[in-house]
Amino acid sequence: MRVREFIIENIGYRLAPCLYNRFHDPLFEFIESKIPKGFLYKNIYDLGCGDGENTARIQKVLKPKEIIACDRSEPMLERAKRKGFKVQFLDFNSEFPKGEMATFTYSLHHAYNKEGVLQKAVNNFQYLFICEPYLKIFHFFNWGHVPPKKYWIQLFDKVLKRYDLYEYKNNLIVFYKD
Ligand SMILES: C[S@@+](CC[C@H](N)C(=O)[O-])C[C@H]1O[C@@H](n2cnc3c(N)ncnc32)[C@H](O)[C@@H]1O
Repeated sequence: MRVREFIIENIGYRLAPCLYNRFHDPLFEFIESKIPKGFLYKNIYDLGCGDGENTARIQKVLKPKEIIACDRSEPMLERAKRKGFKVQFLDFNSEFPKGEMATFTYSLHHAYNKEGVLQKAVNNFQYLFICEPYLKIFHFFNWGHVPPKKYWIQLFDKVLKRYDLYEYKNNLIVFYKD
């Protein structure tokens, strides 16, 4: 783990949950209106689940058969567990599960090798749902390496090739099926 992540995950995440996602209801209302047929009732691995706030929103809109909340931060997993989720310790930089659907919300931008992680997700899952922010001028502290929109689009085009893309404020929303 790099120094920056070590500080965030061992000090920051112990002290506070993901405060920004308290404001994600409108984002998920938008997402709910765009879900393609066939993305409901799957078995989901929510990768980088954080405190489980958005895992709960994923559960509400995608209505999975099962959802496993995965993270490499114990304090975050503890919060997700307290919300009633089945949790799994997992560092997607070094290991990757296999399953039906993987979801990344505000977590893929933390990957050291975003292309490598996205490629593993494509190899190991039939369905992907991704919601990631892109860099805006007001991101003074770019703690998680939030990339610009152009970077994300180039990455999605290269790895996913065909996918449904939507934009809500400074978020890109992707639905991918192999
Ligand atoms: C910004 S939070 C997003 C949390 C949640 N998905 C949301 O939408 O609010 C990023 C989360 O990704 C997790 N994370 C970062 N790198 C990770 C990795 N390599 N493997 C698993 N989780 C990771 C962090 O521990 C953190 O909980």
